Amino acid sequence: MQGETGKFLEMIESARRITVLTGAGMSTESGIPDFRSAGGIWTEDMSRMEAMSLDYFERFPKLFWPKFKELFQIKMTGSFQPNAGHLYLADLERKGKEVRVFTQNIDGLHNKAGSRHVYELHGSIQTAACPKCGTRYGLDHILQAEVPRCCRVNEKGRECGLILKTDVVLFGDAVQHFDTLFESLDQSDLLLVIGTSLEVAPVRFIPEEAHAIPGLKKMMINLDETPYDHLFDLVIHHKIAEFAKLING
Ligand code: OAD
Repeated sequence: MQGETGKFLEMIESARRITVLTGAGMSTESGIPDFRSAGGIWTEDMSRMEAMSLDYFERFPKLFWPKFKELFQIKMTGSFQPNAGHLYLADLERKGKEVRVFTQNIDGLHNKAGSRHVYELHGSIQTAACPKCGTRYGLDHILQAEVPRCCRVNEKGRECGLILKTDVVLFGDAVQHFDTLFESLDQSDLLLVIGTSLEVAPVRFIPEEAHAIPGLKKMMINLDETPYDHLFDLVIHHKIAEFAKLING
């Protein structure tokens, strides 16, 4: 572990611009379960994935919302806190590194930790929008009724009433900020991947894309192996918050 820690610190030290890509493993030590580890949200019940698709939402919007709220209940409470891993990334920025965090997480913890350049690839759980008029609503409104609806009143004095769509990216929806992620990779000295199984497209293509960029170093901190470990200059199989505490001494 000592050798790995030394190499990690060396690579961080020699990088000026760092692109960070995070997944659910980033937040497990904050108390939020991931998707594919034992006890993970999808591992527990595969049919949940089908219900979290655009297709399911469009066909059964009334059934979608109670399922969605049950699955993502913990992320809607806002009662969890960033862990030492989130804080370490925010700290790198304070120490003068140019850090851009691209996260698959919808929990808002990178922002809460103080990272200033956070791109939520899979959207946000904090808001939902009317598919017709685009009016956007916050969590208070989303949680008020079992199935949240648009309450905007039109010129004729009638309430819109359409069922809102969550701003979380569903299976079948387009991932956000992907062009910015590629731009960031091109401009970076280092890619740091943390806590993702790299099983979901298009994010799973990133290690291969990054591998083709000359001069870009690549490091990964992930508890379990991924199919792309061989493409990284350094892979550390460890828990991120524990690791961050270790390097902070
Ligand atoms: P996964 O659950 O697929 O993978 C989480 C990875 O994090 C696993 O490889 C674990 O080994 C690792 N891990 C767990 N705890 C860790 C820790 N404390 N430190 C380091 N690593 C740890 O989650 P994602 O890859 O994020 O989409 O899944 C991608 C997407 O699939 C999610 O964004 C979600 C899901 O469908 C949406 O909700 C839109």
